[in-house]
Amino acid sequence: MPTNARTPSSYPPLNVQVHTPRLSLLGATDELLEQLVPVVRKGVVTEPPWPFDDPMSLYKDSPDREWSWLRGIWAGRAKVSDSFWRLYFVVVVDGKPVGMQDLIGINFSRLGTVETFSWLSPETRGLGLGKEMRQAVLHLAFDGLGARQADSASFVDNHASNRVSQAVGYLPNGTDWDTRRGEAAEIQRWKLTRERWLKLRRGDIELVGVADCLPVLGIQSPPDR
Ligand SMILES: CC(C)(COP(=O)(O)OP(=O)(O)OC[C@H]1O[C@@H](n2cnc3c(N)ncnc32)[C@H](O)[C@@H]1OP(=O)(O)O)[C@@H](O)C(=O)NCCC(=O)NCCS
Repeated sequence: MPTNARTPSSYPPLNVQVHTPRLSLLGATDELLEQLVPVVRKGVVTEPPWPFDDPMSLYKDSPDREWSWLRGIWAGRAKVSDSFWRLYFVVVVDGKPVGMQDLIGINFSRLGTVETFSWLSPETRGLGLGKEMRQAVLHLAFDGLGARQADSASFVDNHASNRVSQAVGYLPNGTDWDTRRGEAAEIQRWKLTRERWLKLRRGDIELVGVADCLPVLGIQSPPDR
């Protein structure tokens, strides 16, 4: 069955889709996660510099890696309130799942700010997909949910991730520290305001299923910021 012809779920976040000319972000159903398991089993990150902060299922050995990864997503899906939600998307290119792009709202109804998290299978990196999927999820955040600001953070030696933030228009927002595999490392922070995004927004990104998802996230209607 083509990934975009799915039976709708009774749970609106799983029906949200974002389409760009190159890729689709599809609400991460169990069926799509299952299709992504071989990528996780093969290994998403296999050598330094390690890109993810702790704790991180993707650092574990298989099969614990796949089990922890699935449990993390199931747990995150179930943890939805006005003060925290996380939308999980599988990135699909030419009908094939190649990675994940998540959108996280912490106190979104009060603050209007979002964060993002992403990864691609190693063989699909460096082809412009990282930038495209970030622009896709930002379109959902700003146009679909009415976000005020998007924040991002990457270890300073994660050049691809930092470059994606810079290339889609974020501005530097200071530094911080976190651990990866137990070792402290410096982080670069980035921010993209709504005002700046409005000047950079693309006209070729389509959102699907967002209105039905708003009440689940505690958003009455996309506010005018
Ligand atoms: C981060 C990630 C999603 C980026 O996706 P990607 O498809 O590799 O990135 P793109 O091909 O869209 O490249 C975007 C920009 O980064 C640059 N770039 C990509 N890989 C790079 C690298 N290894 N070093 C330096 N620059 C790099 C590209 O040239 C491009 O810049 P440009 O717009 O000036 O041409 C992907 O590399 C990945 O999955 N990395 C491992 C997991 C990870 O780091 N996740 C983020 C955790 S914060």
